Amino acid sequence: MNNAAWNKLQGLDKPTLKQLFDADSGRLDTFATRFALHEEDGAPGILFDWSKTHLDAAHVAALEELAEAQDFAGRRAALFAGEIVNPTEGRAAEHTAQRGVGSEASVRLAAENHHRMAAIVEAIHRGAMGKVKHLIHVGIGGSALGPALAIDALARTNGPGGGAMVEVHVVSNIDGCALEQAFAKCDPATTMLAVASKTFTTIETMTNADSVLIWLRENGVEDPYGRVVALTAAPEKAMEWGVDETRILPFSESVGGRYSLWSSIGFPVAMALGWPDFAEFLDGAAAMDVHFRDTDGLANLPLRAAFADQYYTRLRGCQTRAVFAYDERMALLPDYLQQLEMESNGKQVTFDGKPMDGNTAPITWGGVGTDAQHAVFQLLHQGTNLVPVDFIASIAPGHDLAFDHHRMLLSNCFAQGAALMAGKHSDDPARAYPGDRPSATILVDDLTPATFGALVAFHEHRTFANAVLLGINPFDQFGVELGKEIAKQIEAGSTQFDPSTTALLALAGIV
Ligand code: F6P
Repeated sequence: MNNAAWNKLQGLDKPTLKQLFDADSGRLDTFATRFALHEEDGAPGILFDWSKTHLDAAHVAALEELAEAQDFAGRRAALFAGEIVNPTEGRAAEHTAQRGVGSEASVRLAAENHHRMAAIVEAIHRGAMGKVKHLIHVGIGGSALGPALAIDALARTNGPGGGAMVEVHVVSNIDGCALEQAFAKCDPATTMLAVASKTFTTIETMTNADSVLIWLRENGVEDPYGRVVALTAAPEKAMEWGVDETRILPFSESVGGRYSLWSSIGFPVAMALGWPDFAEFLDGAAAMDVHFRDTDGLANLPLRAAFADQYYTRLRGCQTRAVFAYDERMALLPDYLQQLEMESNGKQVTFDGKPMDGNTAPITWGGVGTDAQHAVFQLLHQGTNLVPVDFIASIAPGHDLAFDHHRMLLSNCFAQGAALMAGKHSDDPARAYPGDRPSATILVDDLTPATFGALVAFHEHRTFANAVLLGINPFDQFGVELGKEIAKQIEAGSTQFDPSTTALLALAGIV
């Protein structure tokens, strides 16, 4: 990256976290900000505390200059206007329109699609497909990770009497073990199938969908296609495959796979939670969209997070970034963020095709607290890699057990951030903690559909902001294609591979 702002960033002093807190008594006010979902008193909110990162006034000023040099305002305006922001595929990226924030035409189209989806969800809940207790949702990548995460996060306490209105089983892997596990939990007489695929060509999804139809038929369901709903941007392909037009829920081509949870890909979420909660989820995300669209500089929370991400990835050479949900309900969040961030920004060329001159997306990894403390935190505290960490937790517990559980959960979460920053001196090197290790804490008041929607949208915009600062296109994913092509060649019987691959294929009896 060859511009004055970048050169300035590289030349700045790098004070320690302790020095930063000592030098600025207002640091918390500057870097820990509560985001309220609406303006009324008592509105639910989320605290975004970036004070334990190494951002300071000098770095922020230079990062704001970098944002200007990379035309952050222009690229953000183009995103929300539905312009082509994905030039390699000639597409817009209109996930925000699904939440009601975007160009007028796209918002209208998304609302029409949602209207149809709501009608189908509510009809099925009322019994239009007979009794539906189970929903097998087949999809992969963006067509699975979002629904699985949202259902796990929100369907535990929602719905009449708690729990989900319909039990959803998300199956993504082509490994038959995954589908068999779902079959074991479902009664074919009360099971429906959602086939989720933007392209309606993905081999894993189509193979799993075929197998569910066979299973239904073999278990006494006379018209298995009558139990299918298709969620896709390619309705004609779904029809060719055999789904009745009335049960195809379309979404726009301009909604990227890893950004598609808000479209009809969210159908199983609405089936599990009920439409009103799904609508609340969209509204929470919309509140974050409006914040991201209308706020400038450091006050813009996703942009602030991206500033810190750039600081660690590009200035401090951090190869990874870790996310720990101190909330069992969000255990799938690291998986979801892996696709969002690594598939979006794991790129080697700039927006205009030139080679990048440094790291792009860090490897995103993580887990759930407190479990991870007893497994991987050793490296965070004393390892040789500097790993910026995000902690995510909820002030309100997600269970009815004694408050001790939740108090100890949160105490542990906050203790980790404090320990990473403070470190500890010891004359015994094996017992010394270097400290000065960064973390950010995201603390939701309560995990509701609305706060969860805002939280996911925050990460989408953070990913976009990082792409702008890096000067890359976050909306294509050509890196996934080569492996698919070679798998197809193998399926077609080719043996023209390197000696290792050829030997493996022979050993497994595949060719
Ligand atoms: O192979 C990667 C990918 O294209 C992802 O971007 C996408 O989320 C996933 O596959 C599934 O694609 P589809 O929804 O078209 O089945």
